[in-house]
Amino acid sequence: MKFETLTVHSGHQRQGGILPSSPPIERAASWAFDAMADLDAVFEDPSSGYDYGRDNMPTPALLEEAISALQGGGRTQVFATGMAAIAAVLATAGSGRRVLAAPDLYGATYAMLNAWLPESGGEVRFVSAQDHEAVRDALQNWRPHLLVVETLSNPLVKVSDLGWLVEQARSAGCKTLVDNTFASPYLCRPLELGADYVVESLTKYLNGHGDVLGGSVTVNDDESYTALNLHRKRFGATLDPQAAWLTLRGIRTLALRLHQQCSNALVLAEFLSGHPAVATIYYPGLDSHPGHETAARLFGGRGYGGVLAFDLDAGTRAAAWAVMERLQIAWRAATLGDVATLVAYPAHASHRALTVEQRQAIGIGDGLIRVSVGIEDPDDIIDDFAQALDD
Ligand SMILES: Cc1ncc(COP(=O)(O)O)c(C=O)c1O
Repeated sequence: MKFETLTVHSGHQRQGGILPSSPPIERAASWAFDAMADLDAVFEDPSSGYDYGRDNMPTPALLEEAISALQGGGRTQVFATGMAAIAAVLATAGSGRRVLAAPDLYGATYAMLNAWLPESGGEVRFVSAQDHEAVRDALQNWRPHLLVVETLSNPLVKVSDLGWLVEQARSAGCKTLVDNTFASPYLCRPLELGADYVVESLTKYLNGHGDVLGGSVTVNDDESYTALNLHRKRFGATLDPQAAWLTLRGIRTLALRLHQQCSNALVLAEFLSGHPAVATIYYPGLDSHPGHETAARLFGGRGYGGVLAFDLDAGTRAAAWAVMERLQIAWRAATLGDVATLVAYPAHASHRALTVEQRQAIGIGDGLIRVSVGIEDPDDIIDDFAQALDD
């Protein structure tokens, strides 16, 4: 089945030969058994049934099935948030080990690597995923165990050449974690390129409606899957069935939403790139973006994502906040991937945990605004930004 068909037809459940158009939300937190031997059998082989909700639950399991289908295979574990999903990978594959990471990751991921990983006995080094020479050098000479990159970086939407990175890492005996949140499986399926761990913050595009927090990790090998499952049982960041159901509902329209968001983002990027108040625009759909060719190859012509960022010529926080506050349609909110257009101020939101120097080193200045473009009519989005910038 093609991707669009999978979004609609995966993660359903037949009941006695009948297929409900929407799966039930199974809220049970535990399951009672008549025969103790049957309960014991489920403890022994968790895939044979359900015993206790923190370990596994039917509605999240359907979501896991759907996400695996969208990622092109593998097995998926869902978590209470995207950060819980990233923490699960770092705890099982990074703790006590050497981790090589891009410096311009989502701020909370960067902070987890920079602060928590060393506390847990691990070591971290940061190397730009776009600096191939430095990546190759670190892989060959430092011999890390795990490489951490984002398909599209947050917030400057730099494009990681995942095929190349995964191949280099693998030949140096290093596993790769790809945070695919900005691209979603609609644009990119890193597992198919050989990535070992593919993370999505379900809070963003997969759910898409601003009413769920969730995360997922998809892997290809049973050993990693079992380790992640054990981690979830131990630490308890289980996804609630209601959130799983809403995410499944969101997934049904993932392709339609992303199609419109990519198209709207390109139109807005073209408008902003010609505006005198804008100094620099970051969007891989523009020919001028250094990752344009890579994104075209990686995303197979489906689009370039729904997120863009731009630096105001004025370059100050006051100017950026004034533009953001004049917007009438776009919402000022610290998230992305919703059906509504959202603007965020990275220096104080996604990258608040970084020092000024750390932010400057990765190009996050005081005049930077990030936009997650929604599915509204593109004319309304342009008009909104035009009046906010021209005021
Ligand atoms: C790229 C990226 N990864 C992970 C996360 C964390 O996801 P969550 O907020 O669901 O924990 C975010 C949140 O903004 C993100 O932007």
